[in-house]
Amino acid sequence: MDLNGARILVVGATGVLGQRLCERLGERTTAIVVTGRSAAAAEELRRRLSLRAAHALDLVDHAAAAAVVDRAVEELGGLDAVVLATGVAAFGPAAEEDDAVVEELFEVNALGPMALIRAALPHLSDGGAVAVLTGVVAELPLAGMAAYAASKAAMASWLGSLRRELRRRRIAIVDARLPHMDTGLVDRALVGLPPALPPGHDIDDAVEAVERGLERGIHILRLD
Ligand SMILES: NC(=O)c1ccc[n+]([C@@H]2O[C@H](COP(=O)([O-])OP(=O)(O)OC[C@H]3O[C@@H](n4cnc5c(N)ncnc54)[C@H](OP(=O)(O)O)[C@@H]3O)[C@@H](O)[C@H]2O)c1
Repeated sequence: MDLNGARILVVGATGVLGQRLCERLGERTTAIVVTGRSAAAAEELRRRLSLRAAHALDLVDHAAAAAVVDRAVEELGGLDAVVLATGVAAFGPAAEEDDAVVEELFEVNALGPMALIRAALPHLSDGGAVAVLTGVVAELPLAGMAAYAASKAAMASWLGSLRRELRRRRIAIVDARLPHMDTGLVDRALVGLPPALPPGHDIDDAVEAVERGLERGIHILRLD
């Protein structure tokens, strides 16, 4: 898709990767609506980058996700792409995982994004794109993060089916299986400490790859 002037909804824009993506995409288009859990943080980002609109959104609330999509479509006069940069992690042995934590992981990393994408699909222009930051753990689960990896794998699998279903509409489904980066995500985990991780991949390189993925419709984006 052509990103110049494209109408884009970026969910989780207030996170580290979300902000960097907005900075990059903002050089191609200001027709961007951003969301974050904090309305003030989302509005600050919107103002800093002169983007179209900002909304608060907690993805656990699927009805709110659908309402934000509707507002974004109105504010943008349509929708060409949706980028999901939301996510949470949790660490610890699988045998000791807590039900409530597992549920939150699946809600934020899979069920909420699925609901938001479902709401966006009727509005997305043919030839548009959806990009989701899943992570390399979707295909390479490590010890000490079973439910986190499983939630990402669930999302990746769902995107795989969606991609096939949307072929006729030429909507690119970009599953960005990014490697570990030092964004602080692991320090904001719901519980637990991460296992030993490789040195963080360069964030600018990852953000540039996601932009390229959207532009070229790369199905599964791997950086290593
Ligand atoms: N960092 C890595 O090494 C790495 C590697 C591969 C994939 N990823 C994926 O990239 C994505 C962004 O990660 P990041 O590194 O940029 O971490 P981050 O800075 O912690 O960003 C996480 C984002 O998720 C949002 N979020 C968390 N819970 C939410 C909820 N219930 N509803 C709505 N939004 C929620 C946060 O919102 P607030 O801003 O409101 O807190 C924030 O925008 C995640 O999906 C992560 O799994 C990261």
